[in-house]
Amino acid sequence: MAIKAVAFDAYGTLFDVYAVTSRLEACCPGKGGAIAQLWRDKQIEYSRLISLSDPTASGSQYYEPFWDLTVKALDYALQRFDIRLGDADIQSILDQYHSLDAFEENAAVLRALKSAGIRTAIVSNGDPAMLNGAVRAAGFDALIDDVVSVDAVRHFKTTPQAYGLVEQTLGLKPCDVLFVSSNGWDVMGAGWFGFQTCWINRAGLPAETIGPRPLHEGHDLNVVLTVLGRQ
Ligand code: LAC
Repeated sequence: MAIKAVAFDAYGTLFDVYAVTSRLEACCPGKGGAIAQLWRDKQIEYSRLISLSDPTASGSQYYEPFWDLTVKALDYALQRFDIRLGDADIQSILDQYHSLDAFEENAAVLRALKSAGIRTAIVSNGDPAMLNGAVRAAGFDALIDDVVSVDAVRHFKTTPQAYGLVEQTLGLKPCDVLFVSSNGWDVMGAGWFGFQTCWINRAGLPAETIGPRPLHEGHDLNVVLTVLGRQ
């Protein structure tokens, strides 16, 4: 099926969530990697808890912006490792999260897509302020046509409400969009929703053992150009 747009997950796919590990290691010698992993896992766990457990019975939908979950997940991870950091250290770690490094191949891939006239979007749990800051810090402003945040519907991925924003924003059917993510669970949710899917398996992980397999897979973003037949 012809691909009319490419929608990218942000954190882990375009931006390296583990770029903060060196800053964490400096603050917490010997534990930086473990804290970074637990931080990410908790951030995602909280987003799922909110979207799965939303007490709509009360009529008021519970929701917290992804940046708030990110801050609270770091707080949990530091407590779990019994680390007490000063405000300045915590702020320096969070400041880095606001401008995470983009993976080195990404700018060239996005430029190739734009020069080929392919529409590009970000579809992310990140709230608008987080995403706009990350896009600007990476210098991707002219390379991403639409920044779609789940904040608009107050439901996180992998809910259909979150993925449905792509159709509402881009005006395209899911089958016309290639959804690209480094997160296996995100690719699965996107596959269930009806997107064409591409898994950026940067860590060489096994495929998830439930749900639809990714339509395409590669170890970095260059695979998107291969999929689009432009490499
Ligand atoms: C995102 C996270 C979940 O960008 O990777 O949506």
